[in-house]
Amino acid sequence: MESIVKVERPADGVSLVRLNRPEARNALSRALKDALDAALLDAERASDVRVIVLTGTPEAFCAGGDIKELGAVTVEEQLAMREHPLWRTLGALRKPLVVAVDGYALGGGMEIALAADLVVASEGAVFGLPEIRLGILPGAGGTQRLVRLAGRQRALRYLLTGDRLSARAAQAMGIVCEVAADDAVAAAVALAASIAAMPPLAVRQIKEVVQLGPDASLATALALERNANLALFGTEERTRRMKAFAEKGSGRA
Ligand code: HXC
Repeated sequence: MESIVKVERPADGVSLVRLNRPEARNALSRALKDALDAALLDAERASDVRVIVLTGTPEAFCAGGDIKELGAVTVEEQLAMREHPLWRTLGALRKPLVVAVDGYALGGGMEIALAADLVVASEGAVFGLPEIRLGILPGAGGTQRLVRLAGRQRALRYLLTGDRLSARAAQAMGIVCEVAADDAVAAAVALAASIAAMPPLAVRQIKEVVQLGPDASLATALALERNANLALFGTEERTRRMKAFAEKGSGRA
């Protein structure tokens, strides 16, 4: 049987994780969440992976929670589980996560994109949080991440109607960094490969301060930034790169 999550190495330092349940539009069944969580943790641990790219299949990135499974869940079960570990993993990755969206990113699928560091979408990608139409809300971080990224007016506009957004609209709202004219996965892998070629400790520190800073006061966030940079000044990589730059001297182009 084909695996519901596939992992490839499309470029140096890049792990490409693919949701592979196209017959259900990559709806997040319990099994798919378990498999995705395991694949992300593997990539996070692998010493030769620097950046993780997550994608789906051509017709859908992910249609959200598996409504057929969710229909049978009791409130007691929901309370006991609180949240699937996948959502904690997504929020705690130290390596950059680039999501490539082809087709639909709805409900929990859009919530994955909202938790990513960078989102590359194809022209035809469709985003949306239709949970309200099912009588629930985006409970995997969607309400809170959307309001932080897009502001209250734009967040409520979509949360309260469940209306869909195009890739361009999502880009204008700050949810998507790049709309790929051609192949979103190839564009995401190229972006990931360029990040993977950067000094890894600098990548790590930048991701951390950008992730933590906005929830702190500006003074605290600026101190966080200064200290993160100070730590980078202590690295051999920094010494080597600055020396190499200086030694090129006037011969530099
Ligand atoms: C279970 C789903 C599903 C879902 C699609 N399928 N989305 N099954 N849960 N979220 C199944 C369909 O039942 C169908 O199965 C098959 O996938 C193909 O779907 P179609 O609708 O025929 O495909 P298409 O016309 O291409 O439309 C795709 C779609 C649509 C636009 C994505 O399926 C859709 O609107 N899905 C629901 C999206 C949604 O409401 N998501 C929010 C979920 S709640 P059969 O067996 O008939 O072939 C949520 C809460 C977060 O995300 C929970 C955290 C995990």
